[in-house]
Amino acid sequence: MLTIRDLFAYEILDSRGRPTLAVEAALSDGARATAQVPSGASTGSHEAVELRDGDPSRYAGRGVAKAVLHVWTELLPAVRGLNAEDQAAVDRALIAADRTPDKSRLGANAILGVSCAVARAVSVSRGEPLWRTLAAGRQAMLPVPMVNVFSGGLHAGRNIEFQDFLVAPHGFDRYADALRAAVDIHAAAERLVSEAGYALTGVADEGGWGPALRSNEEALEMLTRAIERAGYRPGEQVSIAIDVASSHFFRDEVYRLATEKRELTAAGMIELLGEWCGRYPVLSIEDGLHEDDWEGWTRLTSTLGGRVQIVGDDFFTTDPRRVRRGIGEGAANAVLVKMNQIGTLTETFEVRDAARAAGWFAVVSARSGDTEDSFLADLAVACGMGQIKVGSITRSERLAKYNRLLELEARGGLEFPGSSVFERLRGRTE
Ligand code: PGA
Ligand code: ZN
Repeated sequence: MLTIRDLFAYEILDSRGRPTLAVEAALSDGARATAQVPSGASTGSHEAVELRDGDPSRYAGRGVAKAVLHVWTELLPAVRGLNAEDQAAVDRALIAADRTPDKSRLGANAILGVSCAVARAVSVSRGEPLWRTLAAGRQAMLPVPMVNVFSGGLHAGRNIEFQDFLVAPHGFDRYADALRAAVDIHAAAERLVSEAGYALTGVADEGGWGPALRSNEEALEMLTRAIERAGYRPGEQVSIAIDVASSHFFRDEVYRLATEKRELTAAGMIELLGEWCGRYPVLSIEDGLHEDDWEGWTRLTSTLGGRVQIVGDDFFTTDPRRVRRGIGEGAANAVLVKMNQIGTLTETFEVRDAARAAGWFAVVSARSGDTEDSFLADLAVACGMGQIKVGSITRSERLAKYNRLLELEARGGLEFPGSSVFERLRGRTE
């Protein structure tokens, strides 16, 4: 039996220069591998707890020395000697060692680091690509990338309220061509923004442009023009996805769209989003409503879900219990999958499997604070749900994932699904 022999953990920095963990797992046959843990900024309040030291003398309290220590003192004794190839048993032992429902005692960051490092060490031991180990027999495929072009909200100094304006280049035969379209559109968007007289002094947290546009609608309009300017057909080859991240501008029961000069109820938001889906080639809406408005989400889904992907991120926080409730209530038709929102690979795949069984979409996603680890690319391929969201095509923590997917496509043997991912959304992608 291939067993876990040792763990090694240390503090590293993420793409925002904030501490996170790296964990190395060593197995009984000598195979060893390391995984790095991502970290969000616009986090949902139901996420598993990322343990931070709270010691103001180090990294303004953001150090993860305690989480690192927990890998040595608590998680290693819990998994040492276990069958490394039984990921479910390993993850169960990690969860049991923590003893809390939200992984707050030992830290979801510490737990996820171990979970991922063990899986990767198994892939090294077997001499197979990580995605094959992770897929564990599931049908794997390359994903359509959902690429950030304009950033707003918490990722760009609250210039505009919506957080992400992305392109989904689905009308292509190969992943490499889809990615190239995103690069062309990112460049066209820069030209359009400059021509309109906006200053561009750098990129936002996920590598997108973060100009102080007049409104959210202007971002949609400019993105549509950027698709055309780059020479692609909006809606047919390239659609728009938005991450509204609405919990972050919801206060006193209303959505405060300051740049739109509007304060909206849930019904008002649904109407506005519906209008914009008619005017612009929007294929996907993430977190269109507040993370606890279950009724509103059901209304949003019954109104727009036949033609648009309705994705829960802060709403579901990759929690199998919340996703199962959402399926029962028809509260969305898609889930954003972020490993560190829940803290183990097994629970992440539980969410993927529940989405698949319900006929939902799933988008495997990075965090705004990410690392040079390409683990997520293999995870997206292993999930086989056909979509990945990593941020923009600048900043190497993003490129690590895009480039790994280029490698996997170049090596052959994996299908790129293109527009067929969205064929259930009638009339949207033809
Ligand atoms: P986060 O942003 O990693 O800051 O949560 C990503 C997202 O909201 O999709
Ligand atoms: Zn989001």
